[in-house]
Amino acid sequence: MKKLFSLLAVTISCKFSFSQKQINIVPYPNDVKMGKGYFDLSSATKIIYGKGTEKLASYFKDQVTNLTGLSLKVELYDGKNPLLNKNNIQLFLNDETSFKEGYTLLVSKTTIDLKAKESALLFNGIQTLLQLLPVKKSAKSISIPQLFIKDSARFPYRGMHLDVSRHFFPVAFIKKYIDLLAMHKYNTFHWHLSDDQGWRIEIKKYPLLTQIGSCRDQTLVGNYGSNKYDGTKYCGFYTQEQVKEIVQYATDRFITVIPEIEMPGHAVAALTSYPYLGCTKGPYKTMETWGISEDVFCAGNDSTYTFVEDVLKEVMELFPSKLIHIGGDECPKVRWKTCPVCQQKIKKENLKDEHELQSYFVKRIEKFVNSQGKNIIGWDEILEGGLAPNATVMSWRGTEGGIAAARQGNNVVMTPGSHCYFDHSQSNNEDSITIGSYLPLEKVYEFEPVPAKLSADEAKRILGAQGNVWTEYMTNESKVEYMILPRIAALAEILWSTTGKRDFANFEKRLPFILKRYKAMNYNYSTAFYDLNTSVIKLPNDKIGWKLATKNKNGLILLKINGKQVKNYSGPVLINETGEYEAAMGDKNGYVISKWINQIFKINKASGKFITLKNEPEIFYSGSGAFSLVDGVQNSKGMAKSAEFLGFLGKDLEAIIDFGEKINFSEVRIHTFTQTASWIYPAKQNSIKVLISNDGINFMLPQNEIFTIEGNSNVINKITFSPSQKIIQSRYIKIIAEDYGIIPEGNPGAGNAAWLFVDEVEVL
Ligand code: ACM
Ligand code: ZN
Repeated sequence: MKKLFSLLAVTISCKFSFSQKQINIVPYPNDVKMGKGYFDLSSATKIIYGKGTEKLASYFKDQVTNLTGLSLKVELYDGKNPLLNKNNIQLFLNDETSFKEGYTLLVSKTTIDLKAKESALLFNGIQTLLQLLPVKKSAKSISIPQLFIKDSARFPYRGMHLDVSRHFFPVAFIKKYIDLLAMHKYNTFHWHLSDDQGWRIEIKKYPLLTQIGSCRDQTLVGNYGSNKYDGTKYCGFYTQEQVKEIVQYATDRFITVIPEIEMPGHAVAALTSYPYLGCTKGPYKTMETWGISEDVFCAGNDSTYTFVEDVLKEVMELFPSKLIHIGGDECPKVRWKTCPVCQQKIKKENLKDEHELQSYFVKRIEKFVNSQGKNIIGWDEILEGGLAPNATVMSWRGTEGGIAAARQGNNVVMTPGSHCYFDHSQSNNEDSITIGSYLPLEKVYEFEPVPAKLSADEAKRILGAQGNVWTEYMTNESKVEYMILPRIAALAEILWSTTGKRDFANFEKRLPFILKRYKAMNYNYSTAFYDLNTSVIKLPNDKIGWKLATKNKNGLILLKINGKQVKNYSGPVLINETGEYEAAMGDKNGYVISKWINQIFKINKASGKFITLKNEPEIFYSGSGAFSLVDGVQNSKGMAKSAEFLGFLGKDLEAIIDFGEKINFSEVRIHTFTQTASWIYPAKQNSIKVLISNDGINFMLPQNEIFTIEGNSNVINKITFSPSQKIIQSRYIKIIAEDYGIIPEGNPGAGNAAWLFVDEVEVL
């Protein structure tokens, strides 16, 4: 082996002259030196492998065949024949290298030489090499650019999650998903196997979990709150044999599968199977809609712990992962408050309240998992009440949980909703149903998993990050692919590339080639990055503009107003009257090459006027600030267009509109949104006020105001103020709507501050 290595060192120095060629690999390797010529891969090329790499060689051979149609010979290195100048691809474990953390890949004119100290690192190198192959089915010969790569990962935890409870995906698709992870150099698959809407893993000791809990009678159709159901029974689970098959498939690709069994919340499917596990003893019904259930495992009853431990015992035997995910998120305490058994447990264990009961639950299970030689990982709620030092925290409600955990010495996986939730829309004009919110590709790429405020020692606790794929609105495999591709590529680069090497401009240059590869591999993917990007902006003189942008440098932006095509886009479109505005990408000749994006504007006396807020909305729902309330856009799609709302958390709306001069008006309409299951409540009853002023300082209530409220929960509420004196004259209007306050008992989020969502104020 030594001899081989020194010969290759000669190859690098003698036969290599460098060039500036670009390779379209993702995640981009950390150290790349490009040569000038090519290695010609053909059916005459042999794969020569060293001891211990037989399986890798055979994997590589199969992948080359899948991508190119070429069938290469595979041979074990006999230790005798010289390896160079042979048209070989050589895979070797190199015990002697001082480069322990990654792989080296040398492509010269005559040889491709891939080496690493460990199989997992060699596997990463194989992924790089595979991406150097153009995807060309039935190729006769393929040119691979000469280069030298020395590459290793930035983070040890590079994860993707998949929820198979809300929608179930068969074994073949899970394998396809794992292949995508391998291709992008992820090393962890977090498999969310149980939730309120379905139990998905066979547990021998509790057969009803799959006989009953793996089914729901029907499924919600459309957006949350639609109240429409499909009337079709929905079932699915993995047998233990299938689980083993998937774990083996992942292990062969150096991917650890972390199973998640949710507790103490998100447990309705388990309760439906075994009602004794709940506080009320049921009957329960596997959920048919999304959201959070108040029915959770009874934390007072010792038989719950026996059940959970039995389940985990079988799970731990199936999964070699050292980390076992126990959920821990979103567990309402409503049932525990009135359950005598839970109350008794609180007394007996000297706990302060139901929150301490939750941490008692987590700690008790943690102890059990530890006793079996494994460690727990859980959503950041598991931090509440203290944790053993070997627990890992998954920070999903922002990065604060992760920061707190790192500071107290726990390991952390960052997966904040703001940057890592691939169930959010990647286009702000998404036309398929998603959970809402907006996470474009470029925002994923901005993510930095290590918060700047951590010390160097604390930062070492950040193991990496993970993309989460909640499947409420992903009913089929193709939709899952569409939601993760290409965002999975952006996150892969965050996790792999050293900070100094991350470069979005370079990523953007590679993106068309990355998408082409997905297409050739028959994956569905999103091209949202190239969609027209629309925003509503404030123009001078209290005017509203519709701004359109495209990353397509060769086309035109076509425009229609009220169905009639008008002059092509050359700058923000002035919106001075109510109507339907549409835009699409056209080629150089004006031929339409994208879908039409449509926006309705409703112009009124407040549109575009100067508006100020007393309280700022929360950053996650801050739209375009106060202007969002007078931008002429009225939300009609609820959370599917959540960027149109200003969201106030435990704060009142207090806005002042300045019309610049006295105006006459006879009606004010305030548009709010209610979705109590998502903690969004209407304004406090009788708190809404419309006040007038001519100096902007002293405001007064007009006499005899009349309010009517249209709409009920889960809809847009329109609150109309019409003064009895018919016409009022004023320069300023102040609008007050008080936040609902604390969410009452018996509701999701009880005890927390309610959100107040407002999207528009009309003055007529
Ligand atoms: C979560 O998104 N509920 C962890
Ligand atoms: Zn109970």
